[in-house]
Amino acid sequence: MHQKILILDFGGQYNQLIARRVREAHVYCEVKPYSISLEEIKKFAPAGIIFTGGPKSVYEKGATLCPPEIYSLGAPVLGICYGAQLMAYQLGGNVISAERREYGRTQVDFKTASPLFDGCPESAVVWMSHGVKIDKPPEGFEIVAKSEACPVAAMEDRQKDFYGLQFHPEVRHTQNGFKILKNFLYKVCGCAGDWQMAEYAKTAIEGIRRKAGGGKVLLALSGGVDSSVAAALFSKAVGKQLTCVFVDHGLMRKNEGDEIEAVFGGGDINFIRVNAGERFLARLKGVSEPERKRKIIGEEFIRVFEEEGKKIGSVDYLAQGTIYPDVIESGAGDAAVIKSHHNVGGLPDFVDFKEIIEPLRFLFKDEIRQLGRELGLPDFLVRRQPFPGPGLAIRIIGEVTEERLEILREADWIFREEIAKAGLDGEIHQYFAVLTNMRSVGVMGDERTYDYTLALRGVNTDDFMTADWARIPFDILEKISNRIVNEVPHINRIVYDITSKPPSTIEWE
Ligand code: XMP
Repeated sequence: MHQKILILDFGGQYNQLIARRVREAHVYCEVKPYSISLEEIKKFAPAGIIFTGGPKSVYEKGATLCPPEIYSLGAPVLGICYGAQLMAYQLGGNVISAERREYGRTQVDFKTASPLFDGCPESAVVWMSHGVKIDKPPEGFEIVAKSEACPVAAMEDRQKDFYGLQFHPEVRHTQNGFKILKNFLYKVCGCAGDWQMAEYAKTAIEGIRRKAGGGKVLLALSGGVDSSVAAALFSKAVGKQLTCVFVDHGLMRKNEGDEIEAVFGGGDINFIRVNAGERFLARLKGVSEPERKRKIIGEEFIRVFEEEGKKIGSVDYLAQGTIYPDVIESGAGDAAVIKSHHNVGGLPDFVDFKEIIEPLRFLFKDEIRQLGRELGLPDFLVRRQPFPGPGLAIRIIGEVTEERLEILREADWIFREEIAKAGLDGEIHQYFAVLTNMRSVGVMGDERTYDYTLALRGVNTDDFMTADWARIPFDILEKISNRIVNEVPHINRIVYDITSKPPSTIEWE
């Protein structure tokens, strides 16, 4: 029904960003590995194809090439960075090693008669990142942009609708980058830009109904954005055939378990809350090694979930809230797998299910939030910051005990409350408290104390792969620190974490 853009993934670091920008332009797209067959491409019937960047050179042994027949499909092609070099190489142009790597902001001059640069100024700053460059475009191509170090910063064959950009339009540092991409989508590919979330919801609900038929569906609900949106979607699609199992591992933040129950427990959804806190704590007794904690929690979660599944009996389908970044990160194209997380929502097919249904697997996080709003979920759920599957257990350094959980819950609550009061809750992407296992000497009244140090962490990030520590104003930090030390027993010192990711990670364990 909608025009679709195919993004061929050659392993570049900004590939997800390209897909996000295309979706932001209200055009549906999918990222597929460069190695997919011509048949699959034809079946996809793209209105246009985008080749991403990639780490290899076209001349390298094992270079990532696409089938040359792609240029005869009649679909417009936009090559970005490596994608442009590949296009030049495969169509008979010349690609050479640059004398020096061109990296960072670069001034480029454009021919604005090109449909790609329509409405753009004749000179602008773009983001370059390449060590190889196009020396001579293929026959039939015209050079439509150049920089000092790069004689072919952009090329086009307008007759065939082939375009190559040596720079990265998807990166925000490129001035008018989004406009250039939109020009390709609307002016070259003729996309209408009518991809809307409401329609997605409708199609997804119909799709789920078709797939599930009259079968029973089981969903592991963590209360996070992804599984909550999946629950709302499935509930609309199959109603009472769905059962949501919320395994409360006792490692949630203050009031969180009850909040989740309040949203999902009262209405039409079959909702089971399993209070398994004691069980998890028993298994975590004496354990302080982070990876062991994660493993134990992951395993125990599966066990509880499995038991519930058996109680319900003859469940046909498992519903999962897997989202697109998870799909792309688990190894499309040649991009490196960055980190595999233990996500207690992400279950292996350990029970005999007919099938796993993942209706969110083509959506990005911001689209999931939009969909959640569309489905009528409360704002606090839709805007919820990420919370790790293993919960507070990985925010307590050392052994997890009920007493230490209580300390952390209270401190974290005050932190969040004060951030909200300061109006910063919509600005800082993730913030939380960490209970360290370090104790130090303090003085309270006239008494000596010897208590725990609590760390506060706040980060801003686009994708949670990299993050910068949040610059929370000192007076707000001071207020938070005073309140926590005064109100939470056994904390006598507060520190604020000022490391970014990398080299740190967002969570402490
Ligand atoms: P790190 O600590 O790797 O965290 O920088 C990146 C983001 O992922 C979240 N996180 C997890 N989410 N299961 C999850 O569902 C996990 O095991 C897990 N560990 C970390 C973290 O909160 C941050 O947003």
